[in-house]
Amino acid sequence: MEKLRIIGGESLQGEINCSGSKNAALPIIAASIMSDKKIIIENLPYLQDITTMFELMGSMGAEIILDETMNFSISTANLNNFEARYELVKTMRASILVLGALLGKYGTAKIALPGGCAIGTRPVNYHLDGLRKLGADIEIRNGYIHASCKRLVGTNLKFEGMTVTGTENLIMAATLAEGTTRLKNVAKEPEIIDLANFLNILGANIKGAGTDEIIIEGVDELSGGRFSIPFDRIEAGTYLAAAVATKGNIRINKIDSSRMGNMIEKFQLMGAFVELNANSIHIKMEKNIKPVDVITEPFPGFPTDMQAQFTLINSVANGSATVTEKIFENRFMHVQELVRMGCDITVNGNSAFINGVKKIYGAQVMATDLRASACLILAGLCAVGETIVDRVYHIDRGYERIEEKLSYLGANIERLPR
Ligand code: EPU
Repeated sequence: MEKLRIIGGESLQGEINCSGSKNAALPIIAASIMSDKKIIIENLPYLQDITTMFELMGSMGAEIILDETMNFSISTANLNNFEARYELVKTMRASILVLGALLGKYGTAKIALPGGCAIGTRPVNYHLDGLRKLGADIEIRNGYIHASCKRLVGTNLKFEGMTVTGTENLIMAATLAEGTTRLKNVAKEPEIIDLANFLNILGANIKGAGTDEIIIEGVDELSGGRFSIPFDRIEAGTYLAAAVATKGNIRINKIDSSRMGNMIEKFQLMGAFVELNANSIHIKMEKNIKPVDVITEPFPGFPTDMQAQFTLINSVANGSATVTEKIFENRFMHVQELVRMGCDITVNGNSAFINGVKKIYGAQVMATDLRASACLILAGLCAVGETIVDRVYHIDRGYERIEEKLSYLGANIERLPR
């Protein structure tokens, strides 16, 4: 298994470009199932999760071509297999995103039921309840969701709990349904707006994405189209966090700061100087880091996908802070590894109580999920001596060329072969 080797102590300096958003790209690729015409997607990040999604689409009969301008064209007119096998779903839970698209377009889908994962049990009951309300028959047999329907019919639906991919599945299913669907208590993440914008370009009629209520007038068919994936706000946040933790001075280009939510304010409260420009963010940290409490919440609240990185920054801050995780029940797996590096953190229930320490020390550590591995890399950048981060495949799911980007910013980091 590949590993990352980091020698800590360098403060990050310089400029990098932000990549396209993984969590925007995945539902958009899935949604291309709903059109028989060619879809061209620009600015896709080069990530393992995108490769897995393409593998899934290919296994269903989609044709995917990387053109000479490095954009992907997807044609799904010859789809002939409406199944997402367990082997793929177990490596990427977001495979569930093809469910709404397949039901809306073909009226049939067989999707392996995703089990729990390192960060929580993560059921999909809200997805299934919603699809049933649109008229789908859904049964769970032999570990698979078997779903079928005639044309789905628009309805009024209030999600029992907020779910990002659940909202996306319902948007896709309702797009080709008969009549009007009103979705309430929906997720408001920027990636929901991206999916709606993409589908509207193809001829869908979706209003209200990014607000509490989404209204979808069903259409009979979708056309082809072209869409550029917006920047990844979590990738951007992770590099900003790395700059703060290492007392660096960096600029991240190709981003729209209005999508960063309250993360920017948290960096400012920590003492960072932050300058927001039209297409970039400049961050500079010259003082001791002030500890800042964080509570994760659905957007526009603080993102759970940045919780591990803020746990690390607070660990090297000047004082104490509490980080509370309200989205996933088991997202503190990085804490034990941070403690092995000398951090002073105690977890009680869904809160981590952190006393900042003056120094942390390099160690061999093991990544357990995508954002936990980002946090361990950041810890390695701050630590005295050598850190080896094992199970790097987690990081490759969601961060494009992370060691290249960090090296470019002056970090001492390299990938060790298997
Ligand atoms: N939940 C249910 N029932 C459901 C759906 C969700 O109980 O039917 C619960 C979950 O167990 C969780 C909470 O609701 O406790 C929120 O889960 P949500 O469905 O919103 O998460 P998701 O859609 O599976 C997406 C992102 C995650 C991100 C979360 C929260 C994608 C592909 N994944 O997951 O991204 O953490 O929203 O913002 O968009 C990551 O990129 O590292 C990542 C995990």
